[in-house]
Amino acid sequence: MTAHSNAPPSAAAPSVVVLDHPLVQHKLTRLRQATTSTAGFRRLTRELSLLMAYEATRDLPLETVDIDTPLERTQGHLLSGKKLCLVSILRAGNGILDGMLDLVPAARVGHIGLFRDPTTLEPIEYYMKLPDDIGERVCIVVDPMLATGHSAAAAIDRLKTAGARQIVFVCLLAAPEGVAHLAAAHPDVKIVTCAIDRELDDHGYIRPGLGDAGDRLFGTK
Ligand code: URA
Repeated sequence: MTAHSNAPPSAAAPSVVVLDHPLVQHKLTRLRQATTSTAGFRRLTRELSLLMAYEATRDLPLETVDIDTPLERTQGHLLSGKKLCLVSILRAGNGILDGMLDLVPAARVGHIGLFRDPTTLEPIEYYMKLPDDIGERVCIVVDPMLATGHSAAAAIDRLKTAGARQIVFVCLLAAPEGVAHLAAAHPDVKIVTCAIDRELDDHGYIRPGLGDAGDRLFGTK
């Protein structure tokens, strides 16, 4: 898949990868359209998630193995080590899990739920369930929208406290503000996205965006 690394948003940021593949851009444009149905939105999110998983897993380590084809003995390459844990930031992150699990069905799945305290504006954790061996897995944290970046940074804080060492953040859409915040808070975390939009508006929506990803995925309003 074609992908390009944008100039990092800060000197400390290792990489932001924007998927500029034509299929990704086509599906993202369909996703943005207000007329796309809930079923269509889910299907497109699933398809885009599989394509994003392809990029997010690019650096997984391989080991060389001897195998027999029907014709001869040869060497091949298999994933080595404990492999993956997908971590969904509730609730909209769950919409990305299905497409990723189509590609990596053996991945473990963790969940983190956060809400913002209305007084202090600090993210408060209301749910967290992760596999015990998180430190031995590459963690792919998923949330469709990287808006302010505060939830993503807070979720990754908690993952690191739980022992995670190698983390990739994957979203459908990012705001420049969110990319900058996450890159400053966690410069070691690679960000994979389908687009970086123009801005965040005063209500915290990404513009031009696609609206509320959770509501569109789950048909709520
Ligand atoms: N969350 C969403 O679902 N949409 C936005 O535009 C920003 C945050």
